[in-house]
Amino acid sequence: MTQAPDLPADIVTPDPETAAGYRIPDWDAVAGPAADFRTFWEDRAKELEWYEPWDTVLDDSDAPFYKWFTGGKVNIVHNAVDRWLVGPTRNKLALIWVSEDGKETRTFSYYSLNREVMTWANILKAMGVGKGDRVTIYLPRIPEIMFAMLACAKLGAVHSVVFAGFSSDALKERILDSESRLVITADGSWVNGKVFELKKIVDEAVRHAPTVENVVVVKRTGTEVAIDPLRDHWFGDLETLPIAKGQCATEVLDAEDPLYILYTSGSTGRPKAILHTHGGYMVGTYTTLKYVFDIRDEDRWWCTADPGWVTGHSYLVYGPLLNGATTFMFEGGPTYPYPNRWWQLIEYYGINILYTAPTAIRSLMRFGEAWPNRHDLSSLRLLGSVGEPINPEAWHWYHRVIGKGRCPIMDTWWQTETGSFQITSVPSMPLKPGSGGKPFFGQEAEVLNEKGEPVPDGQEGFLVLKNPWPAMMRTLYQDPERYVSTYWSTYPGKYLTGDSARKDADGYFWIIGRTDDVIKVSGHRLGTAEVESAFVSHPAVAEAAAIGLPHEVKGNMIHAYVVLRVGYAPSEDLEDELRQHISQHLSPIAKPDHIEFVDALPKTRSGKIMRRVLRARALGLPEGDTSTMDDD
Ligand code: WT7
Repeated sequence: MTQAPDLPADIVTPDPETAAGYRIPDWDAVAGPAADFRTFWEDRAKELEWYEPWDTVLDDSDAPFYKWFTGGKVNIVHNAVDRWLVGPTRNKLALIWVSEDGKETRTFSYYSLNREVMTWANILKAMGVGKGDRVTIYLPRIPEIMFAMLACAKLGAVHSVVFAGFSSDALKERILDSESRLVITADGSWVNGKVFELKKIVDEAVRHAPTVENVVVVKRTGTEVAIDPLRDHWFGDLETLPIAKGQCATEVLDAEDPLYILYTSGSTGRPKAILHTHGGYMVGTYTTLKYVFDIRDEDRWWCTADPGWVTGHSYLVYGPLLNGATTFMFEGGPTYPYPNRWWQLIEYYGINILYTAPTAIRSLMRFGEAWPNRHDLSSLRLLGSVGEPINPEAWHWYHRVIGKGRCPIMDTWWQTETGSFQITSVPSMPLKPGSGGKPFFGQEAEVLNEKGEPVPDGQEGFLVLKNPWPAMMRTLYQDPERYVSTYWSTYPGKYLTGDSARKDADGYFWIIGRTDDVIKVSGHRLGTAEVESAFVSHPAVAEAAAIGLPHEVKGNMIHAYVVLRVGYAPSEDLEDELRQHISQHLSPIAKPDHIEFVDALPKTRSGKIMRRVLRARALGLPEGDTSTMDDD
């Protein structure tokens, strides 16, 4: 770890009058007593409805397998949907959805959201889905993804959402690992005006996944698809069956019953299945959204993430509904057909809070200020950022051009594993552009050196979290040993985040990036191992190494080194073919920007690829300690 250059010194102070009106007018007053985090979380849990109260707030007797609100009976759907069905909130908009081409708008009150969720739950139940069963959801950004997730949760089934951009190989692996008997998908999705054939990918994946008994298909693009009459069912046909109508009760579950698994990339081997539970996750996502974004009854909240990632789970689906808010879902991306798409939507739908990723901001910045300036963005009150560090230039552009200098930017640091924000700002505190803020209430964070000692302020080190929190993952599904060894063994008793960071003298944390073999490309998480194994599945490739290098818009880009098999020669065509291969066999996000053909890769004597050395070479930096390098 290195002695870092000076941290940027600019501070943006909130307008005191506005700040006084926020839920948390004084951060330190609430954030202070971290020692008593149990009371803090218990008080928040009391703001929600429980079928039966808990006996113990935090059971740490089997740490790091922490349990929260044990003995409590609950279902997250009761608090996200059912409890809003009485009184005036039943008519409040829960979801506003807009199609990619902007020609279709679908809105759902809490009342009609419940009807949709019940229909889905009735159908799933009729297909034999019950408590504890895993269901794989591979759907585009359409309302049905929310209904399907909530329907699973309502029945106590465990959803496993796979981002509908992943390849059939990646999907197959996730279906097999979770042993899903049901897959929910669509005929296709719209991507920049073109159809992406989802059902075809599912067919390919399911061919090699014998656990799957049923596939439910939502019609979205009208694309022709192959239907296996014994296995595939159009949702449109199912929903007209008498069995689909009528009431469906929400299952009474234990607080610690699983809610979902979500696969995310790790440093080695196969993706990790992060497991979250009903009670704690509910309390965590509800509380963080409420305090950090100060969400109010009249707000229209827009989280641009896809439900295929944790941000979509926590802050597009569960968090807003748990707060009884109106959540906005847009099928498309920021620049199709023109780079004013988002600004148009903010103006037309009167969005109050926009939560997005630095990579999106940077890509929109390139088109200049004229695009946002054509629109009235005065409905915006707060802005948010997530997924990777936001560089101060992008922060200031976002603040000045989109927020017109009026809207504080909440930079929220968290992970698939943490379920909810861990290091963040709140709107009333002074903001330091580029910093992730401070640990959320009840949390304490530290920056450590290799020996586990805190490093002096301003120096880079390994970021750890000290206190358990309700929305934390409970384990890695079917791999508890890996849960312990990855997160809790380096510094016993402390949660290893995998990030490096610095803390400044005011207690603000500055996230630098991953310290493991995880690369964040456009805010998406990829493991070098996944990229490399996709490479070697191509017949021309003997060996490959992937590293992340800085990229102006994407944050990081993938740079790959490839050793070809005997009989293959480097060429531009082969390079294109390999790029295509990665896109198809892993995901378009993983497409390398550069492929370099080499004769050999630097390795340790035990045969491990030294990516650190490759990175240093690519960046023209000193190679560091190469004493373990095998130079035969
Ligand atoms: C990794 C987790 C959790 C939301 C989406 C990503 C990086 C996340 C920030 C931020 C700097 C950030 C970290 C972290 N990260 N938010 N505000 N500032 N870095 O979830 O895919 O599990 O990735 O994203 O490196 O470890 P994820």
